[in-house]
Amino acid sequence: MNATTIKFAVFAGVTALASTVVQAAEQPPQYAASCGACHAYAVAGAPKTGDAAQWEPRLAKGMEALVSSVKNGLGVMPAGGMCTTCSDDDYKALITYMATPQ
Ligand code: HEC
Repeated sequence: MNATTIKFAVFAGVTALASTVVQAAEQPPQYAASCGACHAYAVAGAPKTGDAAQWEPRLAKGMEALVSSVKNGLGVMPAGGMCTTCSDDDYKALITYMATPQ
């Protein structure tokens, strides 16, 4: 193993650790006032926050498809999911948070 390989291995290890921490995750700041209003209680068939089994078939569509469902609205969910300031990255963080077992 040369020095570059070792640096890469260390970097990959740190990155893996960081993403584990992100997944165990802090609630995103927009959650309570937007997505949480429906997803915390599975209102009108919304996949419930923290219920990985309910999220599994949704996640199978791919993150980009899910972000566009939120932006365009789906069924009862209004376009934007009641978040007027969310960027695509914010939506991804919110979806990841909701799909992670709590
Ligand atoms: C007014 C209630 C409501 C709010 C607010 C809401 N959702 Fe939803 N959401 C729903 C419902 C109901 C569904 C199920 C829709 C269906 O499958 O017909 C859903 C489905 C979804 C899905 C699955 C989409 C798919 O293609 O299967 C994602 C992802 C999602 N919501 C993310 C969010 C995010 C992120 C927010 C906050 C920015 C949010 N939702 C806010 C009610 C809501």
